[in-house]
Amino acid sequence: MDPFGRTIDYLRISVTDRCNERCLYCMPKGYKGWAERADHLSADEIVRIVEQSTTLGFRKFRLTGGEPLVRKDIVEIARRIWDLPGVQTLGLSTNGVLLKDLARPLKQAGVRSINISIDALDPEIYHQLTGGRLEAALEGIGAAAAAGFEVVKLNCVLLRGINDHQIIPLADFGATLGMPVRFIELMPLAPGGPVDQQHFLPVSAARATLATHGPLETATDKPHGHGPAKYYKYRGSHVGFIGSVTCDDFCTTCNKLRLTADGKLRPCLGRHGEIDLLPALRDGKGGISAAFEDAIANKPENHSFAEDFEVRRPMTAIGG
Ligand code: 5AD
Ligand code: SF4
Repeated sequence: MDPFGRTIDYLRISVTDRCNERCLYCMPKGYKGWAERADHLSADEIVRIVEQSTTLGFRKFRLTGGEPLVRKDIVEIARRIWDLPGVQTLGLSTNGVLLKDLARPLKQAGVRSINISIDALDPEIYHQLTGGRLEAALEGIGAAAAAGFEVVKLNCVLLRGINDHQIIPLADFGATLGMPVRFIELMPLAPGGPVDQQHFLPVSAARATLATHGPLETATDKPHGHGPAKYYKYRGSHVGFIGSVTCDDFCTTCNKLRLTADGKLRPCLGRHGEIDLLPALRDGKGGISAAFEDAIANKPENHSFAEDFEVRRPMTAIGG
């Protein structure tokens, strides 16, 4: 339990800060801060950390990046985590581009749920936002549907003036596939880029847009895990809204720590504090458990995005 009464049992593991796309909201333009490959945790190190965390009550795990599928040993990492006693659920967040070949092996390795970013269904807007090809992401979504994961969710970061006209098509696309679409407020995590506060669109506006198109009915159950999204029933499926910035209660149920690809435990996405695990991992100094206990004891009550947050580590190096 952290100082604010929250049970922390969820670890999001960034396996790399690299990515095969260039989302405007994630990576500052011309970003060169890549961790050296030698700084990246090895598969063995990641498994050791997860194993240790389970003895402290961690049960839920999610692999992220950067883009986790650019790591060659991602299927091995997933399988070894899933094989550990105490691991209750394992998810992965991806841009979908490499899922065509990897969806089935990841499912076989034990991944239960996949979150796929899709910010637009218009190929030009998709390309403008990500630098990538919509077709590849759609193939990935198709492969995820065919592989039989327990849940596949779609993520869309809301950007005023860029993808606001995509809200209705995306919600309908998700409903047709039976995949909940989650609309996410832009967090200021890629400074100096072309996407900034003028593009911020609150979830309340996205909800209002969608409500003009089809009835939205509050989902009373927590249909898709215990994440921060507020879900509504929509056209026989669900849509979720993640009000990272405008929802005052956003942090009250936060149950996670983040592990960066270069071995730092990060108690909060929107605060700078980090605890380095490398001394414990590589030099046997202190213990992994002690570092986790430190991170939980120092988990802040909430993020500081509303207080002129100054970015030191962009999203790509934290893990969404
Ligand atoms: N604000 C909000 N969400 C973001 N993501 C990445 N960068 C940001 C940001 N600046 C989300 C994307 C992706 C997930 C991994 O993180 O939606 O799906
Ligand atoms: Fe890559 Fe995901 Fe960041 Fe886009 S949001 S650049 S797909 S890591």
